[in-house]
Amino acid sequence: MKHTIYFYILLLISATCAAQEKITIPIETSENVTILQTDEDNRLNIVYFGKKLSDTSAYPAVSKQFLRSDPDNSITNNAYTPSGTWNLSEPAIQIKQPNGDHSLELKYISHTIEMVDDNVWLTSIVLRDPVFPVEVKLFYKAYRRENVMEQWSSIRNAGKKPVMLEKFASANLYIAGGKFFLRQYHGGWAEEMVPEETELTSGIKVLDSKLGTRADLFQPPSFVVSIDQPATENNGEVIMASLAWTGNFKIDLEKDSYQNLRLIAGINPYAAEYELKPSETFETPALIYTLSHQGKGTGSRNLHAWATKYRLRDGKGKRLTLLNNWESTYFDFDEPKLKGLFKNASDLGVDMFLLDDGWFGNKYPRNNDVAGLGDWQENKLKLPHGLGYLVKEATAAGIKFGIWVEPEMVNPKSELYEKHRDWVIRHPDRKEYYFRNQLVLDLANPEVSSFVFGIIDSMLTKNPDIAFIKWDCNAVIYNAYSAYLAKNKMPQSMLYVSYVKALYGIMEKIKNKFPSTAMMLCSGGGGRVDYGALKYFTEYWPSDNTDPLERVFIQWENSYFFPAIASCNHVTDWSPAPLKFKIDVAMMGKLGFDIVMNKLSPEDLLFAKKAVEEYRTISDVVWHGDLYRLSDPFKKNIAALMYVSPDKTKSVVFNYLANTRYQTNVSPEPIRLNGLDPEKKYRVKEINVYPGTMPALNGEQLYSGEFLMNIGINPAVNRSRASVVLSVTELSLP
Ligand code: DGJ
Repeated sequence: MKHTIYFYILLLISATCAAQEKITIPIETSENVTILQTDEDNRLNIVYFGKKLSDTSAYPAVSKQFLRSDPDNSITNNAYTPSGTWNLSEPAIQIKQPNGDHSLELKYISHTIEMVDDNVWLTSIVLRDPVFPVEVKLFYKAYRRENVMEQWSSIRNAGKKPVMLEKFASANLYIAGGKFFLRQYHGGWAEEMVPEETELTSGIKVLDSKLGTRADLFQPPSFVVSIDQPATENNGEVIMASLAWTGNFKIDLEKDSYQNLRLIAGINPYAAEYELKPSETFETPALIYTLSHQGKGTGSRNLHAWATKYRLRDGKGKRLTLLNNWESTYFDFDEPKLKGLFKNASDLGVDMFLLDDGWFGNKYPRNNDVAGLGDWQENKLKLPHGLGYLVKEATAAGIKFGIWVEPEMVNPKSELYEKHRDWVIRHPDRKEYYFRNQLVLDLANPEVSSFVFGIIDSMLTKNPDIAFIKWDCNAVIYNAYSAYLAKNKMPQSMLYVSYVKALYGIMEKIKNKFPSTAMMLCSGGGGRVDYGALKYFTEYWPSDNTDPLERVFIQWENSYFFPAIASCNHVTDWSPAPLKFKIDVAMMGKLGFDIVMNKLSPEDLLFAKKAVEEYRTISDVVWHGDLYRLSDPFKKNIAALMYVSPDKTKSVVFNYLANTRYQTNVSPEPIRLNGLDPEKKYRVKEINVYPGTMPALNGEQLYSGEFLMNIGINPAVNRSRASVVLSVTELSLP
């Protein structure tokens, strides 16, 4: 490997010596390469993105195979397409100069390749405008084993006057092909991650959000692009991507006149012109993506491997099972009731009790969602002895204590709003619009940011035994106006970006000061799930919709991008489905409960307790194993997926009846397993069996991995066995 580095360093030296010679910059992962190359005008183009070559010396010749130089057309494969000069297609960057000039040209200057460690290589490329003092750096961080790229850019104003950034994308990709199929998502509250897959036609398809906070409510920044034909689980060339940004985003997918795909992803430039002062540098968030040649299964495993190792907070760690009180009490609780719930949690055998919304506010008690938000003092009627007492009581009951907060928000009916109206995002001369009766605080104002940090800081400092924070975010931004920006004569259009940057600043401080406090990313369900925020969170809440059948679909789609260890799945009374079905679905991630335990039948209670114990035996494989999706509920009657330990000795297979139509025999075919060792012998046993029912497979018969993967196994799913969990264990294991 060393000699390759020297080769690249030599390239860099020759680049600086003879700038007009073509410079070729290959950026490799273990399977793929992006080849960037300068042209005769010293612009940087993407000449190839696909499978890599074993002979790296052949890379400079690749561009000759693509006859793209059509002088009548703009060059569409630029690595970071500027605007206002030769380019007439969708730009990656647009800048307004102090004199109002919108023209920008970017020429290659130099590049460096840094080996961060034996797996991670960072290529940084400097581009500069020959006319205006603007410098752009492109960053390509290659996670070689995981085949994941993290790509972002930075823009520096090297001039003496401020410039306005009008578009500032993170990544500009270019994919040769002919046909492209986009899997995108839409949704709303309780119906997150509804997929749609369509062939891209000429022109630009845009995925975007303008909601400010809770940005993914209608559309998340995660998507899949299949090349040539829709990729299946195990076949096809496919890009799986997600923008790591917790705010407005815009993803342009432009099929150009040569049938190639230009993909430009970044912060949404909508109402977001950003002022860059002299000598300032703006750094964009990263686009995270992988290219798989073996379908979506490999692609998602790539992303999971990357996320658990490099991004998700405590990705390799453990998670706390819990009992939450949101759906069992809503706002109606007091200390005696909570102590009863602590006992329930400890009887159930979970690790923690999570106190949800409604514990704060005195002048305006938080007894419903119209009042109290912003006043983070314990409500004296409900909790006369304060949080410290609850933490102590929970500890005495043998469980940990977690708490819900929504510190970015305020109800107009609150002391905070009365005292600090200028801290709220609202227009002084316009009607206020509310989302769930609340408004958003102006994090662009440093005083407000320190207030928000202070809420968590003082709570955790006073109560260091609080083990978990559920951080909610229910409102979008209306009337995007900041009194702080106005007072400081800064453009209002900086609000959206400044908000997210300040939010990350707060999160960073919390993470550093309280490294062992687990945090759940929640946003009125799954309105905020992205790899920008997941750097600070151990897990996310996919949806308030906990109907187990609907959750199968929501969790299925999220699993393309995010690992199971990050998915909080709660068993609730939301639907009348059998408890076993609910628990089996919730086990595909981090298991939690939000039920009225006292209403459970004795059989259900017994089953729930045994399930918590059973979960302890499989959670390691679910959290840290490799995920294989086996039967697609969008196409078949059964949803089946399995998690396999890295050494292939242990796995767990979840099977669910995915529709409620009348069927006599829904699973006539076996389910083919995946990811096992064909040579190994496995015992297959049904687990999490409901008391009084017989398991279909008792573990007595042995199967080879080859049998299980080529023939498969029939979990005997039917209407009376709507969910079946199998453990597949290598013979030598107990
Ligand atoms: C929305 C969340 O998604 C719910 O789980 C719950 O915490 C409520 N907010 C509380 O207001």
